[in-house]
Amino acid sequence: MESYFPEEIIEEIKEKNDVVDVIGQYLQLKSIGTSHKALCPFHNEKTPSFNVSREKQFFKCFGCGEGGDVIGFVMKMENLDFIEAVKLLAHRANIDIEFNAPKEEMKQKYNQQKKYHMINRLAGRYFYNNLTQRSNTALNYFKQRGLNIKIIKSFGLGYSLNNWNDLLNYLKKEGYSEKDIEESGLIVKSKNKDSYYDRFRNRIMFPIFDIRGNVIGFGGRVMDDSLPKYLNSPETKLFNKSETLYGLNIARKNIVDEQVILVEGYMDVIALHQEEFKNAVATLGTSLTKGHAILLKKYCKEVVICFDGDSAGVKATLRSIEILKDTGLNIKVLILPNKMDPDDYIKKMGKIVFKEAIEKAEGYIDYKIHLAQQQFASDSVEDKVKLGKSVAKILKEVKSPIEQEAYIKKIETKIGISKDAIMAEIYGRKRPSNIDNNKYSSNYKRNNKYIESVPIIEQKGHIIAEKQLIKYMLTNPQSISSVFQRITLDDFVLEEHRIIVEYTLNHADDSEKLEKIIDYLPHITKEIKDILNIDMKEMNINNALEKYKVDITKYQLLYKRNQLKQQQSQIIANENLNKEEVEKQLLKLGMEMMSINIELQKLQTEERREHNE
Ligand code: GTP
Ligand code: MN
Repeated sequence: MESYFPEEIIEEIKEKNDVVDVIGQYLQLKSIGTSHKALCPFHNEKTPSFNVSREKQFFKCFGCGEGGDVIGFVMKMENLDFIEAVKLLAHRANIDIEFNAPKEEMKQKYNQQKKYHMINRLAGRYFYNNLTQRSNTALNYFKQRGLNIKIIKSFGLGYSLNNWNDLLNYLKKEGYSEKDIEESGLIVKSKNKDSYYDRFRNRIMFPIFDIRGNVIGFGGRVMDDSLPKYLNSPETKLFNKSETLYGLNIARKNIVDEQVILVEGYMDVIALHQEEFKNAVATLGTSLTKGHAILLKKYCKEVVICFDGDSAGVKATLRSIEILKDTGLNIKVLILPNKMDPDDYIKKMGKIVFKEAIEKAEGYIDYKIHLAQQQFASDSVEDKVKLGKSVAKILKEVKSPIEQEAYIKKIETKIGISKDAIMAEIYGRKRPSNIDNNKYSSNYKRNNKYIESVPIIEQKGHIIAEKQLIKYMLTNPQSISSVFQRITLDDFVLEEHRIIVEYTLNHADDSEKLEKIIDYLPHITKEIKDILNIDMKEMNINNALEKYKVDITKYQLLYKRNQLKQQQSQIIANENLNKEEVEKQLLKLGMEMMSINIELQKLQTEERREHNE
C-alpha cells in the first residue's frame, strides 16, 4: 500500500511535520539538551523513557521499544493506517496530496523529481571532476583563497569549463533530454536559434544542497572582476531560494549550544566551516525570508547574525532581525570591523579571536541601541532628543517590563538621558508628572500584551499546591525521592519555587536547613515565608501529588492556549500578510488550539470520574 504515495510526497510531508512539533501537540515534552523526553503514551510508566530527536526525526521509547518516524507516531497514537496518517499530516501541513489524482500521474511526478535530482547530482560530480582533473586555474583560485582539498571535497566545489555546451553534451550522453536538463536549470535556450547552451561557463561552482543532501541547484562565481560576480540556478521545481539555506545540510548536524551563525555569502560559510565553525549558514544572495526563519527555528534556539561590516551589511542585519524576531529565536549580532566579511575576518584574526567575538556578540536590542548612539553621537540638544526618542522606540519592543527596566538602567548614564524621560517617551505623555515609579504598572497593562497573560500564573490553585509540596519536602526529607519519581524540577511553574526546591534537594540531609534557608536565598524571602506559613492540615501526599499533576498539566495547556490566542490576534492585526496567508496561518493555529482543547476535555473527564469514584 505504501507505494500509493510517491516517496517525494512522503518526504515533503515528513519535512513539514517536524516530529518534535507533532509529538509536542500530544505529549508534554521536556527538552533536555538537544533531546526531548516525555512519559511514553504506549505503555504505563512513571519516569519518562520516551525520547524524541529533532535531528534524527525519530522517536524511541527505551521502556517498551516503540519507535519510528512522525508517520509511525500518528499511526499508533491515532490508531490509523498508513494512508490515513499520511493524509492527516498532509492536511496539518497544508500539503495538497491530490488524493484523487490517478496513481499513474503521481508516479510520473515522482519520477520527474527524481530525474531532476539525478541531473543536478551528475552535474555536481562533473564540475568536481573538472576542478580536480581539468583545470589548474580554478584549483589555484581556491587554494589562493585559502581553501584546502578536504573542505573543497566536503562542499563538493567544482568548476564549469569555458565552453558553451560541455555540460549539455555530457548530460545528453548520460541519456537526459534537453527539456529535462533545461528544467533542472543547467542550460538556457538561445533567443533566436532553436538550441541550448550551458548556463554556467568558466565559473567556480558551489552546489546547493537541500536538508536531505540532494543537489538542488548551483551558485557559480567568476574568478576575476567581471560581472555578474555570482550566477545562481533559477528557481526550479526543486530549488526554492526563499526556503533554502546554504550549508544547513552540514550545519544541522554540527549545531553547538543550539546556535547557528548566519552569514551572507558562500565563501563565508565555507571559510567558517574550514575553521571548525560548522554551524554557519547563508542565504543564497537573497534577503532572509520568513521561510528561512522557520527553517532555522527547527534546528536551533539562537542565531548570531554575522554579516559584512559595511552599510549594506547593517541594513541587511536590521531587516533580518525583524524577520527572526517573530519566531522567538534568540538573536545576537556580531559586528565586524573595517568592512570585513567573516571570510576576511577569520583569515586575518584566526579562529580563537573569532570564537571570542562570537561569544561576546550582543543581543539585538543592545545592537540597535548601539546603532542609535552612533547615529546621534554629538552632545547637541537635537541629537540627545533624537537619541532618546529612538532608544524609547527600540525599548518599546521589549516585552518584559523587567527586562525593559534593566535596559533603561544600563543605558541611562551612558546616553545621559534619565530613566523617567525614557519611560515617559515609551508610555506617552498622559502620565501625571508627580506619580511614583510603581504606578507605571497601569500603563504597562495598556501597552504590553505580555502582562495580560500573567494573571493565570498568579491566581491558580496549583501555585498553592506547589507551596504545599515544597513544604512537605522541606519537612519530610525522606519523601523527596518518591516525589521526584512523579514530577520533575521543570514542572514547578514559579522560578522562585524551582530555586527553593533546588535548595531543598541540595540540603536534604541538613538538619538546620529551615533555619538557614533565608540566609541562603535572601532575594526570595517572600516566597519562602509563604511556604513556611502555608496550611498543611489534612494533606494526603498521594492525593496531593495526583491533584498537582492534573493542575499543572491544565495550567500548561491553558498557558499554551493563551499564547495561541495572542498569536491569532497578532496575525489578524499584521498588515504585511495577505488574506491567503492569514487564513493559512489561522488554520494552523486553529488546529493546534483544537488539540489543546481535546486534551483539556480529557483532563476534565478524568477529574469528573475521579470525583465520582
Ligand atoms: P567573495 O567575493 O568571493 O568573497 O564572495 P562573497 O560570498 O563574500 O560575496 P558578497 O559578499 O559579494 O555577496 C554575498 C552573497 O551574495 C554571495 O555569496 C552571493 O550569494 C550573493 N551575490 C553576490 N553577488 C551576486 C551577484 O552578482 N548575483 C547574484 N545572484 N548573487 C550575488
Ligand atoms: Mn567575501
